[in-house]
Amino acid sequence: MLEGTLSVYAFILIFPLAVIGGLIFLIRNFIRSTEYFDADARFDGKTIVVTGGSSGLGRALSVELAKRGARVIVACRTKARRDSTAFFLRSKTGSFNVRTMFMDLTSLDSVYDFCQELAETEEKIDAVVNNAATLCPQSKTSDDLDMMLGVNYVGHFLLTNLLSEKLLKHGTSSSPVRLVNVVCGSLRSGHIVNMDELEGKCAGGYSMRGVYRSSKLALHLMTKELAHKHGDEGIAAYSVDPGYLNTGLYRNLEGPFGKFNQTCAKILYRTTEEGIQTVLYCLGSKDVLKESGSMFKDCRISDARNSDWTEKHVKELWDRTSELILSKGIKMQLAPPEQDEEEEGEEEGGNSEASEE
Ligand SMILES: NC(=O)c1ccc[n+]([C@@H]2O[C@H](COP(=O)([O-])OP(=O)(O)OC[C@H]3O[C@@H](n4cnc5c(N)ncnc54)[C@H](OP(=O)(O)O)[C@@H]3O)[C@@H](O)[C@H]2O)c1
Repeated sequence: MLEGTLSVYAFILIFPLAVIGGLIFLIRNFIRSTEYFDADARFDGKTIVVTGGSSGLGRALSVELAKRGARVIVACRTKARRDSTAFFLRSKTGSFNVRTMFMDLTSLDSVYDFCQELAETEEKIDAVVNNAATLCPQSKTSDDLDMMLGVNYVGHFLLTNLLSEKLLKHGTSSSPVRLVNVVCGSLRSGHIVNMDELEGKCAGGYSMRGVYRSSKLALHLMTKELAHKHGDEGIAAYSVDPGYLNTGLYRNLEGPFGKFNQTCAKILYRTTEEGIQTVLYCLGSKDVLKESGSMFKDCRISDARNSDWTEKHVKELWDRTSELILSKGIKMQLAPPEQDEEEEGEEEGGNSEASEE
């Protein structure tokens, strides 16, 4: 009798646990199943710029690119991160063909200085990965822009425009220079931001996740307009959704929902090694060449349609963002390089500093 009761209790306890465990296993497999890019593909001779390469996806990507023979230029938010990232990448990959530089996306001046120094000191650039991002409560950049829109979108918009002349020198329509914008699937529910929102003049409540999604939608629309503008000239642009990742991106989410998200990230989300596969694919595969302007996930095209936007909106957002940057007193073109002056004295010029090999 007692034994029977015990086994009923054991069943009542074990059965739900087994169901929950099974469900977690299935969800984890669903989230983490991804296509892997060709493990033998090499990037020898390619110079690739990665923003936000000091942690998370960007750091894993920088490691992999260096291991596969690329010269990797990593933009880091602080000078301390620049130095620690240089040490990490060199010890992890054994490659001294890694350059880490300072660039804080909260300052348009810093982005400008970074691009100026890069254009003057690098012979060529074959690819740029706009990866850095922040998911944070409402705040402002030093240019009085909304923090998330400023870092995730406007800073990368300026960087891409400033480097495009340099990129176009080496890209051809048959062998284009590649630009990858790292976005997220939830951009489908983002909306097109207006000037007030870009400047952080938000009427009503501020939705942290809503603004994050809109910043990623803006980045994807930039991909589309770049493909449209430079498609025949030698820049191919792609958006990549890496899927949910176990990184520090969720560190600023507060309350029970924040804790839940951070726990999910640890248990269920992809590793950064899984997350970088589609970025590698867009940087290295020939199959993507005809697909400039598209969004990719799991090494295939992913539909990013959003009924809110049309080609007209895409162009308007581009023009609005250029106007905004100019209104902050920042030029949208780099100064011409100084005429054949000795480069030695210039090494530490400007606001950005490089920790070089
Ligand atoms: N995690 C996810 O589930 C997920 C899902 C979809 C898409 N993504 C996208 O994947 C990309 C990488 O994110 P992650 O998950 O790897 O997040 P992460 O670990 O937080 O990395 C973000 C990177 O951006 C850098 N960064 C932040 N603010 C910056 C600034 N003001 N100036 C320059 N760099 C700055 C960070 O520098 P520090 O190291 O100095 O902080 C870090 O290197 C992002 O574009 C993100 O939107 C992530």
